[in-house]
Amino acid sequence: MKKILVTGGAGYIGSHTVVELVEAGYEPVIVDNFSNSEERALAGIEAIVGKPVRCHRIDCTDAAAMRDVFQKEPGLAGVIHFAAYKAVGESVEKPLNYYHNNVGSLVVLLQVMGEFNVQKLVFSSSCTVYGIPDKLPVTEQTPVQKANSPYGNTKKICEEILTDVADSGTSISSIALRYFNPIGAHPSAKIGELPLGIPSNLVPFITQTAIGMREQITIFGDDYDTPDGTCIRDYLHVVDLAKAHVMAIERLLTNAGEAIEFFNVGTGNGVTVLEAVQAFERATGVKLNYKIGPRRAGDVPKIFADVTKVQQVLGYKTTKTLEEAMKSAWDWQVSLQESK
Ligand SMILES: NC(=O)c1ccc[n+]([C@@H]2O[C@H](COP(=O)([O-])OP(=O)(O)OC[C@H]3O[C@@H](n4cnc5c(N)ncnc54)[C@H](O)[C@@H]3O)[C@@H](O)[C@H]2O)c1
Repeated sequence: MKKILVTGGAGYIGSHTVVELVEAGYEPVIVDNFSNSEERALAGIEAIVGKPVRCHRIDCTDAAAMRDVFQKEPGLAGVIHFAAYKAVGESVEKPLNYYHNNVGSLVVLLQVMGEFNVQKLVFSSSCTVYGIPDKLPVTEQTPVQKANSPYGNTKKICEEILTDVADSGTSISSIALRYFNPIGAHPSAKIGELPLGIPSNLVPFITQTAIGMREQITIFGDDYDTPDGTCIRDYLHVVDLAKAHVMAIERLLTNAGEAIEFFNVGTGNGVTVLEAVQAFERATGVKLNYKIGPRRAGDVPKIFADVTKVQQVLGYKTTKTLEEAMKSAWDWQVSLQESK
């Protein structure tokens, strides 16, 4: 059974990926400092997979602690690196925290991987690297643009670091997955997104409003150049996204690709924010109290993925619908409420 280190494995996308790794026959080992997650994610994972999953509670920017983990976990076949801060607004206020954590953890990880001869890395990147694209849908050839937040810049810098490492001729090869908008939760409702404080993403805000934790949800702007005037995104089910990581690690382990490869991971369908809200209402039967507000600074008007490369090269295809994603997010919210 191949052992894969999953940094940030207690987080939203990480926890779903750990489940998919176990289901695909891998042995995932989590590293997380729980700065943006809770121990209950581990219990949820274990309840789904029906066996214990090891977790090292350490900070990935701590090189000595990371070395210690690599020593205690001999025979790692590869690493999936999720650990990072991700709040765009906070990154504007505290840029150094973001550079330290997101860039620092990758540098430490690559150093320690080199020392222990672990050669395969999947990295969590983002469609934020495309900025406001001139042409849609975006392909992997769409130019990477100046980031409009320190968070976005950390993803751009991390991709550059991976490229430089590949160009240096080391034996480390990596795949950067550029996620579009992951939503939803595991169908068991045992793991899902756990936003600390006020959510900045649409779907947790929707579910928290629907359950009565928040009074109303504001849709930021209805005067964009889109069919209903609201922004367009490419929402994909988090379980579908998790599966892309399994396929990426498999590609790395069979040495099928280049030293560094980039893939868009989305559905390829652009959906407006208003359509997403309506899909939630349809999927759950719950009416949402929403209003239209002014545009929000920094929002990209429309972005969705061209998924030709990920389909042709990785053989990847999303399978779950927007309604399924919304229903699963709602079931997760209800289960959170019931566990209070
Ligand atoms: N959720 C999205 O919409 C989205 C979109 C694009 C890219 N991403 C990227 O995907 C990755 C995972 O995102 P997520 O939504 O699951 O976020 P998350 O916050 O739920 O998960 C990140 C996990 O990493 C942990 N962590 C953070 N810094 C750490 C450190 N220094 N050492 C150890 N653990 C640390 C947190 O405690 C958390 O459990 C991130 O790199 C994020 O930037 C997310």
